[in-house]
Amino acid sequence: MTVRARSGVADRMSPGVASRMAQIADIGRDPVRGGYSRHLLDNADLALRAWFRRSAADLGLEVEQDGNGNLWAWWGVRGPQAVATGSHLDSVPGGGAYDGPLGVVSALEAVAHLQAAGFVPSRPVVVVAFAEEEGSRFGLPCLGSRLLSGASDPEAVRARTDRDGVTFDEAWRAAGLDPATLGAEPDRLAGLGAFVELHVEQGRDLEDRGMPLAVASAIIPHGRWRLTVDGEGNHAGTTPMAGRRDPVVALAAAILAVRDAAVAAGPAARATIGRVQVTPNGTNVIASRAEAWLDIRAEADEDVRAQLADTLARAEAAVAAEECALSVTEESFSPIVAFDAALTDRIAATLDGVPAIPTGAGHDAGILAPHVPTAMIFVRNPSGVSHAPGEGARDEDCETGAAALADVLRELAGAGA
Ligand code: GLV
Ligand code: MN
Ligand code: MN
Repeated sequence: MTVRARSGVADRMSPGVASRMAQIADIGRDPVRGGYSRHLLDNADLALRAWFRRSAADLGLEVEQDGNGNLWAWWGVRGPQAVATGSHLDSVPGGGAYDGPLGVVSALEAVAHLQAAGFVPSRPVVVVAFAEEEGSRFGLPCLGSRLLSGASDPEAVRARTDRDGVTFDEAWRAAGLDPATLGAEPDRLAGLGAFVELHVEQGRDLEDRGMPLAVASAIIPHGRWRLTVDGEGNHAGTTPMAGRRDPVVALAAAILAVRDAAVAAGPAARATIGRVQVTPNGTNVIASRAEAWLDIRAEADEDVRAQLADTLARAEAAVAAEECALSVTEESFSPIVAFDAALTDRIAATLDGVPAIPTGAGHDAGILAPHVPTAMIFVRNPSGVSHAPGEGARDEDCETGAAALADVLRELAGAGA
Protein backbone atom coordinates (compact mmCIF):
# COMPACT_ATOMS: atom_id res chain seq x y z
CA MET A 1 0.00 0.00 0.00
CA THR A 2 1.22 3.50 -0.68
CA VAL A 3 0.02 6.79 0.67
CA ARG A 4 -0.69 9.37 -1.99
CA ALA A 5 1.21 12.58 -1.45
CA ARG A 6 -1.52 14.88 -2.69
CA SER A 7 0.01 18.05 -1.28
CA GLY A 8 3.41 17.37 -2.75
CA VAL A 9 4.35 20.38 -4.81
CA ALA A 10 5.78 18.97 -7.98
CA ASP A 11 7.99 21.93 -8.79
CA ARG A 12 9.65 21.70 -5.40
CA MET A 13 9.12 25.27 -4.27
CA SER A 14 9.93 24.08 -0.74
CA PRO A 15 13.35 22.66 0.10
CA GLY A 16 12.07 19.21 1.07
CA VAL A 17 12.44 17.30 4.31
CA ALA A 18 15.86 15.83 3.52
CA SER A 19 17.30 19.21 2.72
CA ARG A 20 15.83 20.77 5.88
CA MET A 21 17.25 17.87 7.93
CA ALA A 22 20.61 18.54 6.28
CA GLN A 23 20.48 22.13 7.57
CA ILE A 24 20.71 20.84 11.16
CA ALA A 25 22.81 17.74 10.52
CA ASP A 26 25.97 19.23 12.04
CA ILE A 27 24.34 20.70 15.13
CA GLY A 28 25.00 18.76 18.32
CA ARG A 29 26.91 15.80 16.88
CA ASP A 30 28.38 13.75 19.74
CA PRO A 31 32.02 12.87 18.95
CA VAL A 32 32.24 10.40 21.85
CA ARG A 33 28.95 8.50 21.82
CA GLY A 34 28.15 9.00 18.13
CA GLY A 35 24.84 10.40 16.97
CA TYR A 36 23.54 13.57 18.59
CA SER A 37 23.49 15.02 22.09
CA ARG A 38 21.18 18.02 22.13
CA HIS A 39 19.98 19.00 25.58
CA LEU A 40 17.93 21.84 26.94
CA LEU A 41 19.70 25.20 26.67
CA ASP A 42 23.07 23.73 25.73
CA ASN A 43 24.88 25.12 22.67
CA ALA A 44 23.23 22.63 20.32
CA ASP A 45 19.77 23.38 21.66
CA LEU A 46 20.35 27.12 21.32
CA ALA A 47 21.59 26.65 17.74
CA LEU A 48 18.54 24.55 16.88
CA ARG A 49 16.25 27.18 18.38
CA ALA A 50 17.92 29.85 16.23
CA TRP A 51 17.54 27.61 13.16
CA PHE A 52 13.84 27.11 13.98
CA ARG A 53 13.29 30.87 14.25
CA ARG A 54 15.05 31.45 10.91
CA SER A 55 13.17 28.67 9.13
CA ALA A 56 9.83 29.87 10.45
CA ALA A 57 10.61 33.49 9.55
CA ASP A 58 11.46 32.39 6.00
CA LEU A 59 7.89 31.08 5.77
CA GLY A 60 6.50 34.33 7.13
CA LEU A 61 5.56 32.73 10.47
CA GLU A 62 5.70 34.75 13.65
CA VAL A 63 7.69 33.00 16.39
CA GLU A 64 7.18 33.35 20.12
CA GLN A 65 8.64 31.45 23.05
CA ASP A 66 6.12 30.62 25.75
CA GLY A 67 6.88 30.82 29.46
CA ASN A 68 8.21 27.25 29.51
CA GLY A 69 10.73 27.37 26.70
CA ASN A 70 8.47 25.94 23.97
CA LEU A 71 8.66 27.71 20.60
CA TRP A 72 5.48 28.49 18.63
CA ALA A 73 5.57 29.68 14.99
CA TRP A 74 2.22 31.10 13.89
CA TRP A 75 0.86 31.00 10.36
CA GLY A 76 -1.91 33.53 10.70
CA VAL A 77 -2.77 35.55 13.76
CA ARG A 78 -2.78 33.60 17.01
CA GLY A 79 -6.42 32.84 17.74
CA PRO A 80 -8.94 30.18 18.79
CA GLN A 81 -9.24 26.68 17.34
CA ALA A 82 -5.65 26.78 16.08
CA VAL A 83 -4.26 23.64 14.47
CA ALA A 84 -0.89 22.83 16.04
CA THR A 85 1.76 20.51 14.69
CA GLY A 86 5.39 19.85 15.60
CA SER A 87 7.54 17.84 17.98
CA HIS A 88 10.86 18.46 19.75
CA LEU A 89 14.45 19.30 18.83
CA ASP A 90 16.34 17.80 21.80
CA SER A 91 17.77 14.27 21.85
CA VAL A 92 18.80 11.53 24.24
CA PRO A 93 22.58 11.27 24.82
CA GLY A 94 24.02 9.87 21.59
CA GLY A 95 20.60 9.76 19.95
CA GLY A 96 19.50 9.53 16.35
CA ALA A 97 18.82 12.34 13.93
CA TYR A 98 15.07 11.83 13.53
CA ASP A 99 13.47 11.42 16.96
CA GLY A 100 11.95 14.86 17.38
CA PRO A 101 13.47 16.90 14.56
CA LEU A 102 11.59 14.95 11.88
CA GLY A 103 8.29 16.18 13.34
CA VAL A 104 9.44 19.80 13.48
CA VAL A 105 11.02 19.73 10.02
CA SER A 106 7.96 18.01 8.51
CA ALA A 107 5.67 20.60 10.09
CA LEU A 108 7.68 23.43 8.51
CA GLU A 109 7.76 21.57 5.22
CA ALA A 110 4.00 20.92 5.31
CA VAL A 111 3.37 24.64 5.80
CA ALA A 112 5.70 25.35 2.87
CA HIS A 113 3.76 22.85 0.71
CA LEU A 114 0.46 24.49 1.54
CA GLN A 115 1.76 28.00 0.97
CA ALA A 116 3.23 26.98 -2.38
CA ALA A 117 -0.13 25.49 -3.32
CA GLY A 118 -1.87 28.77 -2.49
CA PHE A 119 -3.81 27.35 0.44
CA VAL A 120 -5.20 29.94 2.84
CA PRO A 121 -6.05 28.46 6.25
CA SER A 122 -9.37 29.38 7.85
CA ARG A 123 -7.90 28.73 11.29
CA PRO A 124 -4.44 29.65 12.51
CA VAL A 125 -1.82 26.95 12.02
CA VAL A 126 1.05 26.83 14.48
CA VAL A 127 4.30 24.88 14.36
CA VAL A 128 5.61 24.01 17.82
CA ALA A 129 9.00 22.83 19.08
CA PHE A 130 8.65 21.54 22.64
CA ALA A 131 11.47 21.91 25.16
CA GLU A 132 13.38 18.92 26.65
CA GLU A 133 11.05 16.14 25.50
CA GLU A 134 13.59 13.44 26.30
CA GLY A 135 14.28 14.68 29.82
CA SER A 136 17.94 14.03 29.14
CA ARG A 137 19.25 17.06 31.02
CA PHE A 138 16.88 17.44 33.99
CA GLY A 139 15.42 13.91 34.14
CA LEU A 140 11.80 14.84 33.44
CA PRO A 141 10.47 13.66 30.08
CA CYS A 142 8.25 16.12 28.18
CA LEU A 143 9.39 18.87 30.51
CA GLY A 144 8.13 21.75 28.35
CA SER A 145 4.70 20.28 27.64
CA ARG A 146 4.31 19.12 31.26
CA LEU A 147 4.94 22.63 32.54
CA LEU A 148 2.66 24.12 29.89
CA SER A 149 -0.21 21.80 30.78
CA GLY A 150 0.25 22.05 34.55
CA ALA A 151 1.29 18.40 34.87
CA SER A 152 4.50 19.41 36.65
CA ASP A 153 5.04 21.88 39.45
CA PRO A 154 7.41 24.69 38.39
CA GLU A 155 8.99 24.90 41.84
CA ALA A 156 9.89 21.20 41.77
CA VAL A 157 11.28 21.59 38.24
CA ARG A 158 13.41 24.58 39.25
CA ALA A 159 15.10 22.45 41.92
CA ARG A 160 16.04 19.63 39.54
CA THR A 161 19.75 19.26 38.75
CA ASP A 162 21.62 18.11 35.68
CA ARG A 163 24.62 15.74 35.72
CA ASP A 164 26.96 18.61 36.60
CA GLY A 165 24.86 19.69 39.56
CA VAL A 166 23.49 22.77 37.75
CA THR A 167 19.90 23.41 38.81
CA PHE A 168 17.18 24.04 36.27
CA ASP A 169 16.74 27.43 37.89
CA GLU A 170 20.40 28.29 37.31
CA ALA A 171 20.35 27.08 33.71
CA TRP A 172 17.16 28.98 33.03
CA ARG A 173 18.50 32.24 34.44
CA ALA A 174 21.87 31.77 32.69
CA ALA A 175 19.95 31.69 29.38
CA GLY A 176 18.42 35.05 30.29
CA LEU A 177 15.02 33.54 31.10
CA ASP A 178 12.75 34.44 34.00
CA PRO A 179 11.65 31.56 36.29
CA ALA A 180 8.49 33.53 37.09
CA THR A 181 7.15 32.66 33.62
CA LEU A 182 7.27 28.89 34.29
CA GLY A 183 3.98 27.07 34.77
CA ALA A 184 0.61 26.19 33.30
CA GLU A 185 -0.74 28.25 30.41
CA PRO A 186 -4.38 27.12 30.20
CA ASP A 187 -5.34 29.89 27.78
CA ARG A 188 -2.68 28.76 25.32
CA LEU A 189 -3.93 25.17 25.46
CA ALA A 190 -7.56 26.26 25.25
CA GLY A 191 -6.73 28.08 22.02
CA LEU A 192 -5.71 24.85 20.30
CA GLY A 193 -8.36 22.98 18.32
CA ALA A 194 -6.07 20.07 17.49
CA PHE A 195 -2.47 18.90 17.84
CA VAL A 196 -0.90 16.49 15.37
CA GLU A 197 2.66 15.25 16.04
CA LEU A 198 4.52 13.51 13.23
CA HIS A 199 7.32 11.25 14.50
CA VAL A 200 9.72 8.66 13.22
CA GLU A 201 8.49 5.19 14.17
CA GLN A 202 10.54 3.69 17.00
CA GLY A 203 10.05 0.08 16.03
CA ARG A 204 9.79 -2.04 12.88
CA ASP A 205 6.04 -2.41 12.56
CA LEU A 206 5.72 -0.34 9.37
CA GLU A 207 8.78 -1.90 7.76
CA ASP A 208 7.32 -5.34 8.41
CA ARG A 209 3.95 -4.25 6.99
CA GLY A 210 5.58 -2.64 3.95
CA MET A 211 3.84 0.67 4.65
CA PRO A 212 5.33 4.16 4.94
CA LEU A 213 2.93 5.74 7.44
CA ALA A 214 0.63 4.97 10.36
CA VAL A 215 -1.37 6.86 12.93
CA ALA A 216 -0.94 6.21 16.66
CA SER A 217 -3.65 4.49 18.66
CA ALA A 218 -2.08 4.81 22.12
CA ILE A 219 1.08 5.38 24.15
CA ILE A 220 1.72 2.67 26.69
CA PRO A 221 2.27 3.85 30.30
CA HIS A 222 5.76 4.30 31.65
CA GLY A 223 7.70 5.65 34.58
CA ARG A 224 11.20 6.47 35.78
CA TRP A 225 12.66 5.74 39.20
CA ARG A 226 16.05 6.52 40.71
CA LEU A 227 17.58 3.63 42.67
CA THR A 228 20.23 4.65 45.19
CA VAL A 229 22.37 1.95 46.77
CA ASP A 230 24.48 2.98 49.75
CA GLY A 231 27.39 0.89 51.00
CA GLU A 232 30.77 1.55 52.56
CA GLY A 233 33.59 3.23 50.67
CA ASN A 234 36.99 1.65 51.31
CA HIS A 235 40.38 0.68 49.90
CA ALA A 236 40.47 -1.77 46.96
CA GLY A 237 43.70 -3.41 48.17
CA THR A 238 43.42 -3.57 51.91
CA THR A 239 39.76 -4.57 52.31
CA PRO A 240 39.17 -8.37 52.30
CA MET A 241 36.42 -9.66 50.01
CA ALA A 242 34.52 -10.99 53.01
CA GLY A 243 32.70 -8.24 54.84
CA ARG A 244 32.76 -5.67 52.06
CA ARG A 245 29.62 -3.56 51.61
CA ASP A 246 30.18 -2.77 47.96
CA PRO A 247 27.21 -0.87 46.42
CA VAL A 248 28.40 -1.60 42.88
CA VAL A 249 28.12 -5.34 43.49
CA ALA A 250 24.74 -4.79 45.14
CA LEU A 251 23.55 -2.68 42.21
CA ALA A 252 24.71 -5.33 39.73
CA ALA A 253 22.55 -7.88 41.54
CA ALA A 254 19.65 -5.41 41.61
CA ILE A 255 19.94 -4.86 37.86
CA LEU A 256 19.62 -8.58 37.25
CA ALA A 257 16.54 -8.49 39.47
CA VAL A 258 15.09 -5.71 37.28
CA ARG A 259 15.52 -7.88 34.21
CA ASP A 260 14.12 -10.98 35.96
CA ALA A 261 11.00 -9.13 37.14
CA ALA A 262 10.34 -7.84 33.61
CA VAL A 263 10.72 -11.30 32.11
CA ALA A 264 8.40 -12.71 34.78
CA ALA A 265 5.81 -10.02 33.99
CA GLY A 266 5.34 -11.29 30.45
CA PRO A 267 6.22 -10.32 26.88
CA ALA A 268 4.59 -6.85 26.99
CA ALA A 269 6.68 -5.75 29.97
CA ARG A 270 9.77 -3.58 29.54
CA ALA A 271 12.42 -2.61 32.07
CA THR A 272 15.66 -0.79 31.37
CA ILE A 273 18.61 0.49 33.35
CA GLY A 274 20.38 2.72 30.85
CA ARG A 275 22.18 5.02 33.21
CA VAL A 276 24.33 4.30 36.25
CA GLN A 277 26.49 6.56 38.36
CA VAL A 278 29.09 5.47 40.88
CA THR A 279 30.47 7.62 43.68
CA PRO A 280 33.34 8.41 43.86
CA ASN A 281 34.05 6.42 40.63
CA GLY A 282 37.71 5.52 41.20
CA THR A 283 39.47 2.40 39.93
CA ASN A 284 41.11 1.57 43.26
CA VAL A 285 38.18 2.62 45.41
CA ILE A 286 35.30 0.53 46.72
CA ALA A 287 32.43 2.92 46.02
CA SER A 288 30.26 4.37 48.75
CA ARG A 289 27.21 4.82 46.54
CA ALA A 290 25.85 3.48 43.26
CA GLU A 291 22.80 4.93 41.55
CA ALA A 292 20.77 3.69 38.60
CA TRP A 293 17.81 5.04 36.68
CA LEU A 294 15.04 2.52 36.09
CA ASP A 295 12.56 2.85 33.19
CA ILE A 296 9.52 0.54 33.28
CA ARG A 297 6.81 0.30 30.62
CA ALA A 298 3.83 -2.04 30.26
CA GLU A 299 0.39 -2.25 28.68
CA ALA A 300 -1.61 -0.80 31.57
CA ASP A 301 -0.89 1.60 34.42
CA GLU A 302 -1.55 -1.11 37.00
CA ASP A 303 0.83 -3.46 35.16
CA VAL A 304 3.62 -0.88 35.48
CA ARG A 305 2.88 -0.51 39.21
CA ALA A 306 2.75 -4.29 39.74
CA GLN A 307 6.01 -4.79 37.86
CA LEU A 308 7.62 -2.02 39.89
CA ALA A 309 6.52 -3.64 43.15
CA ASP A 310 7.94 -7.01 42.12
CA THR A 311 11.12 -5.36 40.84
CA LEU A 312 11.71 -3.49 44.06
CA ALA A 313 11.03 -6.53 46.24
CA ARG A 314 13.63 -8.49 44.27
CA ALA A 315 16.09 -5.59 44.20
CA GLU A 316 15.66 -4.97 47.94
CA ALA A 317 16.57 -8.60 48.68
CA ALA A 318 19.55 -8.51 46.31
CA VAL A 319 20.89 -5.32 47.87
CA ALA A 320 20.32 -6.52 51.44
CA ALA A 321 22.31 -9.69 50.67
CA GLU A 322 25.30 -7.41 50.08
CA GLU A 323 24.70 -5.57 53.37
CA CYS A 324 23.85 -2.40 51.49
CA ALA A 325 20.78 -0.14 51.62
CA LEU A 326 18.39 0.68 48.77
CA SER A 327 16.28 3.83 48.48
CA VAL A 328 13.93 4.63 45.61
CA THR A 329 12.62 7.94 44.24
CA GLU A 330 9.94 8.25 41.56
CA GLU A 331 11.10 10.76 38.96
CA SER A 332 8.10 10.61 36.64
CA PHE A 333 5.02 8.55 35.83
CA SER A 334 3.16 8.81 32.54
CA PRO A 335 -0.20 7.03 32.46
CA ILE A 336 -1.55 5.32 29.37
CA VAL A 337 -2.65 7.70 26.59
CA ALA A 338 -5.44 6.90 24.16
CA PHE A 339 -5.43 9.41 21.32
CA ASP A 340 -8.56 11.24 20.18
CA ALA A 341 -10.46 8.58 18.22
CA ALA A 342 -12.43 11.01 16.01
CA LEU A 343 -9.32 12.98 15.06
CA THR A 344 -7.27 9.83 14.55
CA ASP A 345 -9.97 8.29 12.34
CA ARG A 346 -10.25 11.51 10.36
CA ILE A 347 -6.50 11.61 9.79
CA ALA A 348 -6.39 7.92 8.85
CA ALA A 349 -9.20 8.52 6.35
CA THR A 350 -7.41 11.57 4.93
CA LEU A 351 -4.36 9.34 4.44
CA ASP A 352 -6.26 6.60 2.61
CA GLY A 353 -6.76 4.38 5.64
CA VAL A 354 -3.28 4.00 7.12
CA PRO A 355 -3.14 1.61 10.10
CA ALA A 356 -3.33 2.68 13.75
CA ILE A 357 -0.54 1.29 15.94
CA PRO A 358 0.34 1.74 19.63
CA THR A 359 3.77 2.95 20.69
CA GLY A 360 6.07 2.16 23.57
CA ALA A 361 7.73 5.59 23.34
CA GLY A 362 6.67 8.72 25.18
CA HIS A 363 5.72 11.93 23.34
CA ASP A 364 4.58 15.49 24.04
CA ALA A 365 1.40 14.46 22.21
CA GLY A 366 0.66 12.22 25.19
CA ILE A 367 0.90 15.16 27.58
CA LEU A 368 -1.36 17.34 25.43
CA ALA A 369 -3.93 14.59 24.77
CA PRO A 370 -6.00 15.14 27.96
CA HIS A 371 -6.36 18.84 27.06
CA VAL A 372 -6.54 19.05 23.26
CA PRO A 373 -7.80 16.61 20.57
CA THR A 374 -4.46 15.03 19.70
CA ALA A 375 -3.17 12.51 17.19
CA MET A 376 0.14 11.24 15.84
CA ILE A 377 1.51 10.17 12.47
CA PHE A 378 4.44 7.73 12.33
CA VAL A 379 6.97 7.51 9.50
CA ARG A 380 8.57 4.12 8.74
CA ASN A 381 12.00 3.45 10.25
CA PRO A 382 13.70 0.64 8.28
CA SER A 383 15.92 -0.60 11.11
CA GLY A 384 13.42 -0.01 13.90
CA VAL A 385 16.32 1.36 15.96
CA SER A 386 15.73 4.54 17.93
CA HIS A 387 17.49 6.46 20.72
CA ALA A 388 20.73 5.41 19.02
CA PRO A 389 22.71 6.58 15.99
CA GLY A 390 21.24 3.76 13.86
CA GLU A 391 17.81 5.43 13.86
CA GLY A 392 16.70 6.25 10.34
CA ALA A 393 14.03 6.94 7.77
CA ARG A 394 14.16 6.84 3.98
CA ASP A 395 14.09 10.23 2.27
CA GLU A 396 11.07 9.27 0.18
CA ASP A 397 9.13 8.22 3.29
CA CYS A 398 10.00 11.52 4.96
CA GLU A 399 8.69 13.44 1.95
CA THR A 400 5.56 11.28 1.94
CA GLY A 401 5.13 12.04 5.64
CA ALA A 402 5.39 15.80 5.16
CA ALA A 403 2.97 15.71 2.23
CA ALA A 404 0.56 13.64 4.32
CA LEU A 405 0.87 16.14 7.16
CA ALA A 406 0.09 18.92 4.70
CA ASP A 407 -3.05 17.03 3.66
CA VAL A 408 -4.03 16.72 7.31
CA LEU A 409 -3.46 20.43 7.97
CA ARG A 410 -5.48 21.30 4.88
CA GLU A 411 -8.29 19.10 6.17
CA LEU A 412 -8.17 20.48 9.73
CA ALA A 413 -7.52 24.14 8.96
CA GLY A 414 -9.39 24.51 5.70
CA ALA A 415 -12.71 26.23 5.06
CA GLY A 416 -15.56 24.36 6.71
CA ALA A 417 -13.19 22.44 9.00
C1 GLV B 1 11.12 9.16 24.79
O1 GLV B 1 11.27 9.05 23.59
C2 GLV B 1 10.84 8.01 25.61
O2 GLV B 1 10.02 7.18 25.20
O3 GLV B 1 11.45 7.88 26.66
MN1 MN C 1 12.78 9.83 22.19
MN1 MN D 1 10.47 11.97 20.32
